[in-house]
Amino acid sequence: METDSGRTTSVWMATADVPAGESLAGDTSADVCVVGAGIAGLSTAYLLTREGKSVVVLDDGPLAGGETSRTTAHLTNALDDRYYELERLHGERGARLAAESHTAAIDLIEEIVTEEGIDCDFERLDGYLFVPPGESTEQLGWELRAAHRAGLTEVEYVERLPYDAYDFGAALRFPYQGQFHILKYIRGLAEAIKRRGGRIYTGAHADEIEGGAEAHVKTSDGFTVSAGAIVVATNTPVNDLVAIHTKQAPYRTYVIGARVPSGSVPRLLYWDTPDPYHYVRTQSVEGHDVLIVGGEDHKTGQAEDFDERFRRLEEWARERFPMIEGVELRWSGQVMEPVDGMAYIGRNPLDSDNVLIATGDSGNGMTHGTIAGRLLTDLIVGRPNEWATLYDPSRKSLRAAGEYAKENLNVAAQYTDLLTGGEVESAEEVRPGEGAVMRRGLTKVALYRDEQGTLYERSAICAHLGCVVNWNDKEKSWDCPCHGSRYDPRDGHVLNGPAINGLAQAEE
Ligand SMILES: Cc1cc2nc3c(=O)[nH]c(=O)nc-3n(C[C@H](O)[C@H](O)[C@H](O)COP(=O)(O)OP(=O)(O)OC[C@H]3O[C@@H](n4cnc5c(N)ncnc54)[C@H](O)[C@@H]3O)c2cc1C
Ligand code: FES
Repeated sequence: METDSGRTTSVWMATADVPAGESLAGDTSADVCVVGAGIAGLSTAYLLTREGKSVVVLDDGPLAGGETSRTTAHLTNALDDRYYELERLHGERGARLAAESHTAAIDLIEEIVTEEGIDCDFERLDGYLFVPPGESTEQLGWELRAAHRAGLTEVEYVERLPYDAYDFGAALRFPYQGQFHILKYIRGLAEAIKRRGGRIYTGAHADEIEGGAEAHVKTSDGFTVSAGAIVVATNTPVNDLVAIHTKQAPYRTYVIGARVPSGSVPRLLYWDTPDPYHYVRTQSVEGHDVLIVGGEDHKTGQAEDFDERFRRLEEWARERFPMIEGVELRWSGQVMEPVDGMAYIGRNPLDSDNVLIATGDSGNGMTHGTIAGRLLTDLIVGRPNEWATLYDPSRKSLRAAGEYAKENLNVAAQYTDLLTGGEVESAEEVRPGEGAVMRRGLTKVALYRDEQGTLYERSAICAHLGCVVNWNDKEKSWDCPCHGSRYDPRDGHVLNGPAINGLAQAEE
């Protein structure tokens, strides 16, 4: 499967295809228009069709061609931000609702897999949280007690993992987690949506999103979808200029897929505790297993040492998993980190009541996306949902003020790039397959030369709020260091929001 979110290939893209979507060929209407066909958009569309709602889904790429195709698809209620931290930020009740909602999301995925007969390698397995060698295990004690208070009473402390080849040391065991093959699941979900009357259009870029009495989405082909409600599930909202984007930050994360003999690595989910952390699982493919190891995150547009990050991941993995026969896949993707650890799911702040969003997925986007399906469906059909306050996009996160300030000072610092020189003095310096930013008068241009030697020029000024983009040599894209917008290097079209439009033409 080819996607429009980068050049690298994940294990899912290498081993499954998704159905080609239909093209939108005229104006249409539905009860709900969902923009974005990743796990959040499709879970919402599916659950709405189960309520008897008519649904139109629009995506400007292929089905699940965004971050959903780049995931590692752990399904877990062991949340990245730790229960003791969630308790500090959201109180004991908040932490309990977080545990309850993520547990319910895994159950819901299992229910959908069974009911719709989706063959997607779904399985239940244990997950283990451990600290790096030489570090204190004290935080495992804090997490154990907080997880119990949050209702996860079966979480237990163990002296070591059920794995002989390496001693990871003491750990917490989270029982009854899950994993699946995401693209096989998406294929089944899309088929189920269509069976229930939903319509999915791909290659349909939403240019304008308007709520209110005459709510509608306009596509760049000039077609209009009128709807009673609009769900913007574009990973990061493309219909919101500022409100949400000061409360979350974009991070790139890296994954290797290594060939190991079938059954040689115990089927578990593995996570360690540093920031950034490592995340590990296996997936069976024909004739062998793939060991999937992720980590090495950095803020989008703020690093260039991509190969070094893959090298460090491989070194970390080889030390712990000596059965690795070779690394066959290397890919990266983007996650949105909310300042207070929980996704933003609900009504879009400062907008009409019938415009809803799902964002702030962090490393738990499979379950957050599924929670979005349930919560947004409840909001649209008018059913009370206990999780609504915890995930409310308008919530104030006063206890996360430190993280909020840190991320926004980091964004402010990126604007100084507008004043500095360029990376190259002339286009001749840009070699085939590479990109570089060049100063031209008062502005900057983004230069890319393809492998055949053709030069492409766009403005280097991000279409969202004007930061200068940086070259991503691994995914061959222009990445914005401020809020994570990403652009195609040839025609500058937008690959990731929050920008809704592409890079402008370069000024002469
Ligand atoms: C490497 C990696 C590992 C991860 N591992 C895990 C994990 O183990 N467990 C877990 O729970 N989560 C994990 N995550 C997070 C999870 O994969 C994501 O949070 C989740 O897939 C995001 O889904 P989404 O539907 O919000 O966004 P996406 O899948 O990005 O979908 C958004 C869609 O919107 C479309 N779109 C955007 N703008 C427009 C527009 N203007 N018009 C039309 N369409 C538009 C895009 O084309 C895209 O298809 C991981 C993420 C990465 C990158
Ligand atoms: S993503 Fe906000 S300025 Fe680029």
